[in-house]
Amino acid sequence: MILLSALFNWRSTKALVAFGDSYTYVQGVLGHQNYTYIGDNLNLAFTPQQLLSNRIVQNQTSTAEGGPNWVEYLTNCGVKPGLTDPRKCDVQLWDFAYAGSDVSEVLTPLHHDHTVSLARQVEQFEDYGNPALEHVLDKKETLVAIWIGINDINDLAKLRGKNTAFAPLYEQVQTQLFQLVKQIYDLGYPNFLFMNLPPLDRGPSPSVNASLVLTFNSIHSSHATAFQATHPDAAILQFDVNAMLNGILDHPGEYGIKNITNFCPGYNQPDIRTDPAKYGCGEGLDTYFWYDSGHLTTRVHQIFVPILRDWLSMQSV
Ligand SMILES: *[C@@H]1O[C@H](CO)[C@@H](O)[C@H](O)[C@H]1NC(C)=O
Ligand SMILES: *[C@@H]1O[C@H](CO)[C@@H](O)[C@H](O)[C@H]1NC(C)=O
Ligand SMILES: *[C@@H]1O[C@H](CO)[C@@H](O)[C@H](O)[C@H]1NC(C)=O
Ligand SMILES: *[C@@H]1O[C@H](CO)[C@@H](O)[C@H](O)[C@H]1NC(C)=O
Repeated sequence: MILLSALFNWRSTKALVAFGDSYTYVQGVLGHQNYTYIGDNLNLAFTPQQLLSNRIVQNQTSTAEGGPNWVEYLTNCGVKPGLTDPRKCDVQLWDFAYAGSDVSEVLTPLHHDHTVSLARQVEQFEDYGNPALEHVLDKKETLVAIWIGINDINDLAKLRGKNTAFAPLYEQVQTQLFQLVKQIYDLGYPNFLFMNLPPLDRGPSPSVNASLVLTFNSIHSSHATAFQATHPDAAILQFDVNAMLNGILDHPGEYGIKNITNFCPGYNQPDIRTDPAKYGCGEGLDTYFWYDSGHLTTRVHQIFVPILRDWLSMQSV
């Protein structure tokens, strides 16, 4: 029997390379504001010098959560307000996620002409990211983190209507996703972390129900497990963030969360941190589960990351 994580060791992991959507993107000085660390779909190219001189921005508008997000907490890279050089972090964070991204344009159109789908993120990584990074990181001590599918499931629900048979579409999404995973693996990266869909069905204005989320996640998991079986020298780690987040929603009080049904209407106001009462959000954003109609608060990211980190340690050799 092959160990699931034959190669992976969180304690010796020196870099996280991230792909995905708004849950995962971080703002870079050279990024498209509110969308990315570097470049956009109209300008995918960058030089090694540009990538390495770029900085992670941390301020109120630099993520889709109103503060640090899970990749920043996990690596402790870019959490502090101001600018961070990823190479100065104990675990470097190289983030190619783009807010509003779907897996590809095959089933769902781009949200904007500047949106970088996951397929294009991987193309960008092959052409520019990896050639620059292979001089500054060790691929075997790098974890590739992918959190994608939130826009796919929502977009498909809106585009196709409620009488659609969704499972075959989710199969297509996952087939495409794991072709992209293979492309990254073929560059020499053996360690992958996958996050499944959050409980979008419990959001403030859900486009999908629990059974669609469950179906999507179970198809995703089958593809990940199949990839592991056909690539025994890879470590394919599947974190069930859906179960974790449903647990918080079921027992919010244990985590200091008081509002799980809606978001604070003044969530993006410059004075929301100092004067939440002005917007009727008396106890502040950190007591809210949802940041806006589609995103978790930075506090929820901060709550689940230590559990993810412990879990990563348990998957290690
Ligand atoms: C980025 O988002 C902030 C807050 O929502 C907004 O004020 C700003 O105009 C946005 N920037 C761009 C370039 O769209
Ligand atoms: C966050 O930083 C970016 C880039 O430096 C800047 O454009 C933006 O205005 C800042 N936002 C806030 C709320 O300070
Ligand atoms: C969930 O939504 C799908 C697609 O609209 C629908 O076919 C299914 O009956 C719904 N399931 C439940 C339990 O409501
Ligand atoms: C949750 O927050 C919304 C927006 O601030 C508010 O309207 C609602 O009453 C709150 N719900 C609870 C249970 O506090």
